[in-house]
Amino acid sequence: MQTVTEKSAAQLHDYLARLDAPQTYSDESCRQFADIIHRIRVLKAQRNAVVLAHNYQRPEIFEVADFVGDSLELARQATTVDADVIVFCGVHFMAETAKVLNPVKKVLIPDLRAGCSLAESVTADALVERRDALRKTYPDLQIVAYVNTTADVKAVVDVCCTSSNAVKVVNALPTQNILFVPDEHLGAYVQSQTSKNVISWNGNCYVHHQITAENIARVKEALPHAKILVHPECRADVVALADAVLSTSGMVTYAKKSDAEEFVVVTECGLSDRLLLEVPEKKFYKACKLCQYMKMITLEGTLVALEQMKFQVDLDEDVRVGAERSLRRMLELS
Ligand code: 13P
Ligand code: SF4
Repeated sequence: MQTVTEKSAAQLHDYLARLDAPQTYSDESCRQFADIIHRIRVLKAQRNAVVLAHNYQRPEIFEVADFVGDSLELARQATTVDADVIVFCGVHFMAETAKVLNPVKKVLIPDLRAGCSLAESVTADALVERRDALRKTYPDLQIVAYVNTTADVKAVVDVCCTSSNAVKVVNALPTQNILFVPDEHLGAYVQSQTSKNVISWNGNCYVHHQITAENIARVKEALPHAKILVHPECRADVVALADAVLSTSGMVTYAKKSDAEEFVVVTECGLSDRLLLEVPEKKFYKACKLCQYMKMITLEGTLVALEQMKFQVDLDEDVRVGAERSLRRMLELS
């Protein structure tokens, strides 16, 4: 999704009315958003800055973003940025990825608390210890790290992957035995799609982990004609109920191309908001799950980030070089 032209307060209000959230997007709040959006756009030009935003961001953030996408698209986009400053509206590991790929640019994240339960579930030291222990049984073992990891972890693994290329990356490796970190559910999904031996770490995304098969089975019964789109960070019994298992942007493409009119979007709710705004002719049912970390990024915070040039992402050069190696290998393999 590319940047949109600036809307007046009234246009913004009409547009965001599609989300049916009148308290969040009242006349008054849309006036304030329109003012901040204008100030951010002016500052972006002055600072020669671009804003990259993940699909789970608040809809008003999309209004200042130069690019909105999933983790793979954002990593690819980060390799082509022609600007002095990247403001990353997403979580910390995503901003780190942008810095890894753009060492001489300033990369800002508007709120340092924007972490991720998956990235927190594995450290480089614990991973190296587990790898060394497993290699006694599986000498060919390689480590595949989901991008939802810190740069420290990326620096010690063989290759990275995202939700949209995990199976492809695992299948492209020359070895039979894989240690997959840190998402146990994505690891289980990859195992179901490959003949390789996938040993999973035991982390999970706290947002997707809350969604149960009972929840989805009930919705499926009530909406038999709707397509069920499931993110692979969900539990295996939820994935088993899916019509399609997709990354966030994969869901957008699927919904646009599909002949179906109605979809149950089983992932964080920000993606449903993007779909409701971008594909108004179709109907989307939300999973009603919010990622507290993604939602820590606000328009106000983005404005302050650009005004004060904070918070800058900095990496130790050895770590950056190591993380770049596994990210670039992912981009080559996928
Ligand atoms: P994708 O947008 O790459 O599918 O990832 C989802 C996610 O949870 C990112 O934190
Ligand atoms: Fe991490 Fe889950 Fe939030 Fe994505 S949705 S940033 S995986 S906690």
